[in-house]
Amino acid sequence: MAEIQDIIHKLCDTGSLTREEIIRLLENRDSETQALLAEKASAVAREHYGNKVFVRGLIEFTNYCKNDCYYCGIRCGNKNAERYRLSVEEITECASYGYGLGFRTIVLQGGEDRFYTDDMMVDIIKSIKKEHPDVAVTLSIGEKSFESYKAFFDAGADRYLLRHETADFDHYAKLHPKNLSAENRQQCLYNLKKIGFQTGAGFMVGSPYQTFENIADDLLFLKKLDPEMIGIGPFIPHKDTVFADEKAGDLNLTLFLLSVIRLMLPTVLLPATTALGTIDPRGRELGILAGANVVMPNLSPVGVRKKYALYDNKICTGEEAAECMNCLKNRIGNIGYEIVTDRGDNIKYKSMKEGK
Ligand code: 5AD
Ligand code: FES
Repeated sequence: MAEIQDIIHKLCDTGSLTREEIIRLLENRDSETQALLAEKASAVAREHYGNKVFVRGLIEFTNYCKNDCYYCGIRCGNKNAERYRLSVEEITECASYGYGLGFRTIVLQGGEDRFYTDDMMVDIIKSIKKEHPDVAVTLSIGEKSFESYKAFFDAGADRYLLRHETADFDHYAKLHPKNLSAENRQQCLYNLKKIGFQTGAGFMVGSPYQTFENIADDLLFLKKLDPEMIGIGPFIPHKDTVFADEKAGDLNLTLFLLSVIRLMLPTVLLPATTALGTIDPRGRELGILAGANVVMPNLSPVGVRKKYALYDNKICTGEEAAECMNCLKNRIGNIGYEIVTDRGDNIKYKSMKEGK
């Protein structure tokens, strides 16, 4: 079995590791290897994206959801959740307000809510693109048919976020009710890629029952899928879920995995997530220093923010979007990076589209 140093060299040189090597790396994780990987990973991010950090304005437009994922605060079984929906006008106004603040990517995220038909989503996408042709529209609205995804893409949507949650079928079954399957989730991701979306997958770090083997399989799945975006953040318990008493994911393991992911997929768009900022006051800054290059502040009207609680103690639920933008500019500036007004496309995807 190779030594840790050999594994790290192989990771930096080739971006590929075997399942056994990933597990060994995780088992031997210490502060020294973490610091080394962060240094290598942030250098790779800078090589491709400079010291730029891209911002995405997140509009959480509905917290109704037909699903009952055991970890999620807006699961349909949570009778304590106060439900809300934004109207088409509220959503487009929110997008325009974000545009004024410098956002050039708008993320429309919601629970799986049948109230919003495909036609409504198409209208929303078209109206944002018509008003702001230089904005990228990202959707994060769960599992849909190939035809629905295609309709959204044809309407002008650019990107789609759908975390695979866990690549292991048995682990998936421990986090979700029987009507949801890892197989369908992964099929959705392949469909999105096939249609031409810049596609995002990802998983929670430290979700209940997760093992190092599971994480290794997640990383290998990501390597195989080769998504343009990857979202990972710590699992954080929510009081009204099956996992209320489980412990939260670990900060350092999350940072370590951000670095490994950056080294495995050098050009991937990788956010320092709100969940990371929730488990540690400097979580997002540490995420950037570990190789992340995206932040996704909330653009939803302040009145509904607390209601979109996937987990407890979520940050920025009282601040206006403009306040978060200023706060992030300062935070990112303080660590030597810069928030930019840019669509922030994946550079590999972009050069492929431009036929370079
Ligand atoms: N803690 C952390 N992340 C969560 N998500 C859902 N619930 C939680 C939680 N309790 C993540 C899932 C989902 C994304 C939108 O948020 O990975 O895909
Ligand atoms: Fe929202 Fe700092 S990012 S207050």
